[in-house]
Amino acid sequence: MEHIPHYRLSREAVYTRLFEHMTYGGDYYPEQWPEEVWQEDVRLMREAGVNLVSLGIFAWARLEPQPGQYDFDWLDRIMDLLHAYDIRVNLATATASPPPWLAKHHPESLPVTHDGTRLWPGSRQHYCPSNQAYRTAAQALVQRLAERYRHHPALVLWHVGNEYGCHVSACYCDESAAAFRRWLQQRYTTLDALNRAWGTAFWSQQYGDWEEILPPRRTPTFSNPSQQLDWHRFCSDALLECFEMECAILREYTPHIPITTNFMHAFKPLNYWKWAAREDLVALDMYPDPAEADAHVYAALNYDLMRSLGQGRPWLLMEQATSQVNWRPYNFVKQPGQMRLWSHQAIARGSQGVMFFQWRQSCAGAEKFHSAMVPHVGTNSRIWREVVALGQELRRLDILLPSRIQAKVAIMWDWESWWALELEGKPSCSLRQIDQVRAFYEPLFARNITVDFVPPDGDLQSYRVVLIPNLYLVRETTAQRLADYVAGGGTVVIGFFSGIVDEHDHVWLGGYPAPFRRMLGVRIEEFIALPPQQHIGIITDDGNSYNAMLWSEVLELEGAIALAQYTTGFYAGYPAVTQNRFGQGIAYYLSTQLEAAGMSWLVQHVCDYAGVQPVYSTPPGVEAIVRQDGQRTWLYLLNHRATSIDVALNAPADDLLSGQRLATICHLEPYGVAILTPSHSSLTDSF
Ligand code: GLA
Repeated sequence: MEHIPHYRLSREAVYTRLFEHMTYGGDYYPEQWPEEVWQEDVRLMREAGVNLVSLGIFAWARLEPQPGQYDFDWLDRIMDLLHAYDIRVNLATATASPPPWLAKHHPESLPVTHDGTRLWPGSRQHYCPSNQAYRTAAQALVQRLAERYRHHPALVLWHVGNEYGCHVSACYCDESAAAFRRWLQQRYTTLDALNRAWGTAFWSQQYGDWEEILPPRRTPTFSNPSQQLDWHRFCSDALLECFEMECAILREYTPHIPITTNFMHAFKPLNYWKWAAREDLVALDMYPDPAEADAHVYAALNYDLMRSLGQGRPWLLMEQATSQVNWRPYNFVKQPGQMRLWSHQAIARGSQGVMFFQWRQSCAGAEKFHSAMVPHVGTNSRIWREVVALGQELRRLDILLPSRIQAKVAIMWDWESWWALELEGKPSCSLRQIDQVRAFYEPLFARNITVDFVPPDGDLQSYRVVLIPNLYLVRETTAQRLADYVAGGGTVVIGFFSGIVDEHDHVWLGGYPAPFRRMLGVRIEEFIALPPQQHIGIITDDGNSYNAMLWSEVLELEGAIALAQYTTGFYAGYPAVTQNRFGQGIAYYLSTQLEAAGMSWLVQHVCDYAGVQPVYSTPPGVEAIVRQDGQRTWLYLLNHRATSIDVALNAPADDLLSGQRLATICHLEPYGVAILTPSHSSLTDSF
């Protein structure tokens, strides 16, 4: 490594440096290639406009071939080479895939599944998060990396681990059991408190000694749900401890370098609210399936979630595919233009650039048929041409970097409630958190109404509407905050089977949904699970009929009015959707799962009532979203259709991408994109 002078920058300065330009690049695995190839790599990176690569993610075995024997020379050389070509490095701590020697010397470091099966080395992520040997070895490696590269000018970001929990989110071994007990002792202090919280009077489960407590390993039938809920919390925390253990070292050596780890979309095992608070930058790996017609809708949901996890701060699309992946049963290619479109979609929703897995397509290993920026066939290829064209285009978008996205509608999202909701023994096994969130999100997306996500203890004041697709588990404090929000003039919509249990998964007594009953002005007497495929009907007070499924309820009005009633079943004539004035605001309740048209009706009703407008009205299949800074408004139009379309403009606008001034029409090619800024007045319908 060349001698680098010592310098220190403030965190803010590093942020500015990190996002001085739109980020473009990907995972780079030079260790898979002879060094001659590196020269070609950096030359091609320059050609494509790559300015950041993630390095060393799976390089532990190469960096430490035997315990305590380190080999950093090759990493020095590639870091220097990248720096010479002005390509910055997101340096990984390389701890996601331990080398074979760890399992040989410490077989107890291998993870164990809930039925006692040990998972062996030979793929990746084969470590127990609570295992001390793994932690000690990981710490030693991270310390060496931090010491060695802390002043390297190419280093701008730390990439800790990789997709924590992706393959192994829980380990049930004895060491994990001991760690679980320590975690429980901290949480409950006494066994009495734990017995109460876990409801152990049921089925003779009362514990008389901490040592009797185990992870919820495979049991004859349903395990204790309160124990399972705590296990979910513990498993998320155990991995978070690993992450923080590495962060502590990095912060000591490089307080000026921001830290990230790559999240995986709406990933159930990890409470990302808690995780995001501990990192400097939220980063996401997103692989929408080109085979799905609405893949971009779920992608948008995830981009909004990432932006919200970072509280509106910049986030980064850390990985996506240039074309197909290799881990689905059938791996479809992206159509010409679709990779560009989906890249812009992430930027439109707040990403400060676009990164891929991976730079050069591997010729060996399990992912050799996964697409990459440089495909097996080389640069005379559609993929390479699209990669270069996108890189060139992004250079023109630095002007967007200071802008942010604003939303007037929030969806409440809670991992703890998600975990509790999907434990066994509920009225229906088909009630899934993501389905409920999507049911609310999709009609908003279709209407171009921007959405943020908020945690149960989040600040609601800037939102006109808060949607709660499902909040099965609710703490008293959350219920109180929501009541205060509505009383103060806010609007909430609460979906069925919400407000049912407390943080220990004990039912709130006093009439469902007890914590929300006064605010909603309803009392639920019975939950009615419907068989799969069965449809029931509702009719709205404005005369629309919709199908409903999955769930219904026998509901009594206690001050609310019915906006829709059931037309089928013994509960025909009972309210299905209600509205209640509470203080200065309004609380809606939805007691069933409506078909898409019904959700559109509800969302439109609520938004109209609360005065929330779409950012722009577009034809179906064209997404509109706004990025704004102090001076400018940028309206992104994204055509997700395979055919071209014209979008009418409210006012003349300049297209940042084509450089053209548009008078009345914006013509979008198949999978086309435009970034419009008004020539004079405000172009958007709202904001
Ligand atoms: C994830 C991982 C990468 C790679 C890709 C393949 O995002 O982080 O290492 O396996 O998936 O799609």
